[in-house]
Amino acid sequence: MRLFLCVFLVLFEVVCSVTRPNIVFILTDDQDVFLNGTGPMSKLRQYVSSQGATFSNMFVTTPLCCPSRSSILTGQYVHNHKAINNSVDGNCSSPSWQKGPETQTFVTYLKKSGYTTFFAGKYLNQYGMDETGGLSHIPPGWDHWNGLKGNSQYYNYVVSANGKAEKHGSDYKADYFTDVINRKATDFLNRQLGKSKDEPFFMMLSTPSCHAPFTPAPQYSQNFSKMSAPRTPSFNTKSTDKHWILRQVKTPMGNASMQWVDDTFRNRWRTLLSVDDMVENMVTLLEKKNVLNNTYVVYASDNGFHLGQFSLPNDKRQFYEFDIRVPLMVRGPGVKPGQRREDLVLNIDLAPTFLDLAGIRPPDFMDGQSFKSALLSPPSGDASRTDFLVEHTGEYDLKQPGCPQYDGQPLNNCFPDCVCEDSRNNTYICVRRVGSTGNLIYCGVSDDEQYVEAYDLSSDPNQLKNVASTLSASVLESLEESLATLATCSGTTCHNVKNIPHYRKMPQQRNFTDIPLYHRYRGNSASIGV
Ligand SMILES: *[C@@H]1O[C@H](CO)[C@@H](O)[C@H](O)[C@H]1NC(C)=O
Ligand SMILES: *[C@@H]1O[C@H](CO)[C@@H](O)[C@H](O)[C@H]1NC(C)=O
Ligand SMILES: *[C@@H]1O[C@H](CO)[C@@H](O)[C@H](O)[C@H]1NC(C)=O
Ligand SMILES: *[C@@H]1O[C@H](CO)[C@@H](O)[C@H](O)[C@H]1NC(C)=O
Ligand SMILES: *[C@@H]1O[C@H](CO)[C@@H](O)[C@H](O)[C@H]1NC(C)=O
Ligand SMILES: *[C@@H]1O[C@H](CO)[C@@H](O)[C@H](O)[C@H]1NC(C)=O
Ligand SMILES: *[C@@H]1O[C@H](CO)[C@@H](O)[C@H](O)[C@H]1NC(C)=O
Ligand SMILES: *[C@@H]1O[C@H](CO)[C@@H](O)[C@H](O)[C@H]1NC(C)=O
Repeated sequence: MRLFLCVFLVLFEVVCSVTRPNIVFILTDDQDVFLNGTGPMSKLRQYVSSQGATFSNMFVTTPLCCPSRSSILTGQYVHNHKAINNSVDGNCSSPSWQKGPETQTFVTYLKKSGYTTFFAGKYLNQYGMDETGGLSHIPPGWDHWNGLKGNSQYYNYVVSANGKAEKHGSDYKADYFTDVINRKATDFLNRQLGKSKDEPFFMMLSTPSCHAPFTPAPQYSQNFSKMSAPRTPSFNTKSTDKHWILRQVKTPMGNASMQWVDDTFRNRWRTLLSVDDMVENMVTLLEKKNVLNNTYVVYASDNGFHLGQFSLPNDKRQFYEFDIRVPLMVRGPGVKPGQRREDLVLNIDLAPTFLDLAGIRPPDFMDGQSFKSALLSPPSGDASRTDFLVEHTGEYDLKQPGCPQYDGQPLNNCFPDCVCEDSRNNTYICVRRVGSTGNLIYCGVSDDEQYVEAYDLSSDPNQLKNVASTLSASVLESLEESLATLATCSGTTCHNVKNIPHYRKMPQQRNFTDIPLYHRYRGNSASIGV
């Protein structure tokens, strides 16, 4: 049977390895690394990172749930899959997403090549709504589907169990969502591994933790009571050299915000203890079933988070390190235990990597690149890619509950002290450069000021000083060139973008007006920096 399958696969130009590995992908919601987001997870350290690789340069290319999750599923930048925000009319799980990008997510390729696939947890923020086909819509490629309706919840939610509504209430034992995901995954493994060990499987476990409403399991509701949110150097500071949304904050933060920041920090960590239990259960079960040595366990998050940095009380959606850096840990066959790796990895790299690990050539439309070779080899020190794009389209709502003074303005997330954390003009593109040849970010904001920010992360990891106006001409030129390439790239033109000036022959006359969101600030020093 296995031989037959291999021959069959070869005919379809799929590389066939004798035993293809299983993959268990655990995706958390809003888990940062900047605020030590994996700090509470000792089991994650014991069962995953100490047994494999921890990547210290893992980034998302957009710091918002639905756009980032759509990037994880497709291996594409937002400007290519077009799920620009968390609303249906921004293509979050929209009918056109379902007709287009969703038909070619990585899981559709795994399925076609013979993998058994399982999903449990939060999918895309608008999944399961009437406008998006309801709970009977099962995204293509998934054999076993348990998709949460809407955004993260811990209690009182509905799951599509293979297309049928499964309602949950507020009884811890029956309903706590992280535990429900854990139990469904356990049942799947017991059934799957009772059947045949030859058929590889892919599981995606997508937890509500540690997203709002930050509800811990009862047994963890008192842990970390003495901790407070880290007072990083930018905590509760006032910015004067940053774009509008950062300049309109209240500093010092109000009492409600301060209280919120510390309570939220503790509750986020508490919710992660249930994820930690799930990690332990998955790894020990795989071991008990004798398949751990042929299974990759991949742990990541959809975006980071901030709590009080630059006096922003709580959210993501900014291009600073706290929102774009996320955890990535991988264990599995051939991955040397206990490694800390500095290789640059992106959310858009997960899809091509899953395919590569499964012996499937990643399709050319994917903007990300497989990091399988980084997993299986020692560090090479020779990065083929140093530059990537960060893009966000600001969200807004004309109603601001609790802050009527802002009703009618295109703002969002004005909570808890009427400090707004997003707005239509918090729309930007950035190039982030990582590695020994430069550790920088350079951003243009699509607001009335066409505001430009740049940070030298080697000397200023907390991004306290905007250096946009003092970048040397050659550095500026190479950043612009990368930004111009990345802002409109697709598939292979997104690959291997490096910080070598003129590394790729550019048209003689670059016309920046053709580049969406690009801000023609050249010669307009008033808009640069301070
Ligand atoms: C992160 O949290 C863990 C657990 O509390 C602690 O041991 C570690 O020192 C923290 N790391 C940092 C950088 O704060
Ligand atoms: C949603 O996706 C469709 C199909 O790709 C595209 O035509 C449309 O412009 C997208 N909407 C937004 C708001 O980007
Ligand atoms: C959580 O708190 C309980 C009760 O104090 C304690 O027994 C347990 O070890 C704590 N767990 C963690 C992971 O800190
Ligand atoms: C905020 O807290 C400070 C210190 O505890 C207190 O002096 C002040 O009155 C509080 N302000 C409000 C508006 O509650
Ligand atoms: C994994 O371990 C099991 C049990 O020890 C063994 O039978 C099997 O050959 C191993 N598989 C691989 C790929 O090493
Ligand atoms: C998402 O984008 C669409 C299309 O531009 C827009 O109509 C909608 O208001 C946006 N949603 C939010 C929350 O900003
Ligand atoms: C951004 O949008 C807000 C809300 O409309 C507005 O008050 C502010 O002036 C704008 N700022 C810039 C720099 O465009
Ligand atoms: C740049 O592109 C815009 C829009 O396509 C066009 O109107 C303009 O003439 C072009 N400028 C140059 C210098 O080619």
